[in-house]
Amino acid sequence: EALNLAPKALAGKRLLITAGPTRESIDPVRYISNESSGKMGYAIAKVALEMGADVTLVSGPTSIKAPEGVRLIPVVSTQEMFDAVMDNKEVDVIIKAAAPADYRPAQMSLEKIKKKDSSMQIEMVKNPDILKTLGEIKTNQLLVGFAAETQNLKAYALGKLNEKNLDFIVANNVAEKGAGFDGDTNIVTIYDRNGTETAYDCLEKEQVAKIVLDRVVQKLSV
Ligand code: CTP
Ligand code: CA
Repeated sequence: EALNLAPKALAGKRLLITAGPTRESIDPVRYISNESSGKMGYAIAKVALEMGADVTLVSGPTSIKAPEGVRLIPVVSTQEMFDAVMDNKEVDVIIKAAAPADYRPAQMSLEKIKKKDSSMQIEMVKNPDILKTLGEIKTNQLLVGFAAETQNLKAYALGKLNEKNLDFIVANNVAEKGAGFDGDTNIVTIYDRNGTETAYDCLEKEQVAKIVLDRVVQKLSV
């Protein structure tokens, strides 16, 4: 496949990318989080910069250094990610590679919770769905989502594509070898709102980033 990755293919375009997990505090020393290294989102930010885009990266806690030249907005919780995205949503393209926690503890204890002999329960309340909210308010903007699934990849990905009003969604089965969170590779299928479905072999995350941004360029130019 020929990729249209002219160095300046995204010149003058503003991109907002989210990456990494979020953390929801239980007490000062404990939290609930998701599996996510941030590598996919950071790879997209790096390649987008190389293509000339103006890049804002809203990132949950990761161990990766942000590429020089991106505007980095570090966040911790899903609510913080929601607020940062809403404050910076006036862009041409939003790519949501982050894995935000869907729930948070109903209360955060201000003191460390001491263990007891009994079992314990944590009541959880729902976090806002950032991408769904963006899909409800978007006007002239490209919206790209990710879906990491362990089963029914196509049905779940198409459900999210429609429910969140996306232009396309990048789906992967995390149970497949080579498609996990922490690795440098991914095995993705892109479902597009135009009805097409494109499956790729196991690729480096940077190559997946190029494929995603190539599709962005194509969609911006029609
Ligand atoms: N997403 C988001 N805000 C959330 C949860 C998810 O913006 N609170 C975004 C993710 O960044 C991703 C897409 O929605 O681009 C799909 O995330 P995923 O967790 O796969 O889907 P959910 O809708 O949360 O459904 P579930 O976790 O039940 O599969
Ligand atoms: Ca989720």
